[in-house]
Amino acid sequence: MAATVRRAASSVLSRFLLTKPSPSPASAAGNKSALLGAGAAALHRFSTAPASAAAAAEEPIQPAVEVKHTQLLINGNFVDAASGKTFPTLDPRTGEVIARVAEGDSEDIDRAVAAARRAFDEGPWPRMTAYERCRVLLRFADLIERHAEEVAALETWDNGKTLAQAAGAEVPMVARCVRYYAGWADKIHGLVAPADGAHHVQVLHEPVGVAGQIIPWNFPLLMFAWKVGPALACGNTVVLKTAEQTPLSALYVANLLHEAGLPEGVLNVVSGFGPTAGAALCSHMGVDKLAFTGSTGTGQIVLELAARSNLKPVTLELGGKSPFIVMDDADVDQAVELAHQAVFFNQGQCCCAGSRTFVHERVYDEFVEKSKARALKRVVGDPFRDGVEQGPQIDGEQFNKILRYVQSGVDSGATLVAGGDRVGDRGFYIQPTVFADAKDEMKIAREEIFGPVQTILKFRYTRRMIFF
Ligand code: NAI
Ligand code: MG
Repeated sequence: MAATVRRAASSVLSRFLLTKPSPSPASAAGNKSALLGAGAAALHRFSTAPASAAAAAEEPIQPAVEVKHTQLLINGNFVDAASGKTFPTLDPRTGEVIARVAEGDSEDIDRAVAAARRAFDEGPWPRMTAYERCRVLLRFADLIERHAEEVAALETWDNGKTLAQAAGAEVPMVARCVRYYAGWADKIHGLVAPADGAHHVQVLHEPVGVAGQIIPWNFPLLMFAWKVGPALACGNTVVLKTAEQTPLSALYVANLLHEAGLPEGVLNVVSGFGPTAGAALCSHMGVDKLAFTGSTGTGQIVLELAARSNLKPVTLELGGKSPFIVMDDADVDQAVELAHQAVFFNQGQCCCAGSRTFVHERVYDEFVEKSKARALKRVVGDPFRDGVEQGPQIDGEQFNKILRYVQSGVDSGATLVAGGDRVGDRGFYIQPTVFADAKDEMKIAREEIFGPVQTILKFRYTRRMIFF
């Protein structure tokens, strides 16, 4: 059998992952010690600075896009929040404010749900032919492609993911995903079931109504496409609550969707926080269906709020701690690269990240050595710069959480073989970090770190166990 390597990333993404980055100049590491909280001393004993560390300390590149939309999108119009409140959305490269965005709360959710209800009960969207709905979505995909550079720049600016990834993979995938669902619009058939006797049994698929959708910040545009695309193709209307860390790209593309011919009220976008706007959407009696992607803990809250209000059905996409298994007959170099990409892709902020790397004892030492070398070579820096593989983490909360997990790895006795510290002295950059000798019971092997931290565990097996 050839290399037995299992990985946890989508096949479409994986083609992108395997593209080798171009090398970027090495420079000295920034001042780290002053910026780490408790446990800094312990970390520094183990820390090994990547060659590329200080790329992040360079002056940030000015994004080639203007922030045009910061208000809520309700009933086809950009409007202020009812409270007049705004909140800042930050550039993760520096922690500085990109723009202030209208902060939606329950009153705005009420307005958005009312608009979506009207659009569903009285508007043209569910009534037009499926072919016409398809055409609107296809025009939307064309517009995304026409504005691809701006859309990608906005995504990188607000999120910190590399421009190469946003422009090279994600924006094209958004257009493709929208076209995929557009194609479904006129192919959703019912069914005539054979019945006993003189009866006619027919299954008719109808739109559900008003769909409430809550998305996270790790793939803001793809999440938009995955949620809004199918809901609209089926003739539903939508109230979308974006993540407070990344409100900008959804507002931008929602505007394009209206330019493509979407009737007013069919898609409403409310920026704001989870416990306020998000919870109001989950509890709303006028919402017929919820879709949520995010943390497991918040998923439990979403399900409970749905149950305690109108028992609306809920779709959840939550966290993970996916295994990546390297057997003793694997091509080690290939396995190292795949395992590296499986966990470090998108700054490690993936629900399907290969975040537990299990390696057979016979290839373990070689695998650890090569994984360390690969992590130290990973190019961290301004995500707008060519050749950069890893940008900053999304925000200070995630940044601190990841460093706490690193400390917990050290405290629990895992061997820190690379990274373990921040990069530079501003923004939310973290060194690609590798732990070896991890054990099943350690927190770093059990909990979702959602950052650039590889946890390598050794295993042994006897062939008899596999082939009996
Ligand atoms: P989160 O699950 O709290 O946030 C995701 C979305 O849910 C955001 O739009 C947020 O505003 C909303 N939300 C938060 N509290 C809510 C509530 N009470 N009612 C309704 N909506 C609510 O995730 P967070 O705090 O940003 O990240 C924490 C951890 O979650 C991460 O470290 C990671 O482990 C995991 N996560 C997983 C994601 C995935 O794709 N599966 C995406 C983002 C985070
Ligand atoms: Mg949260």
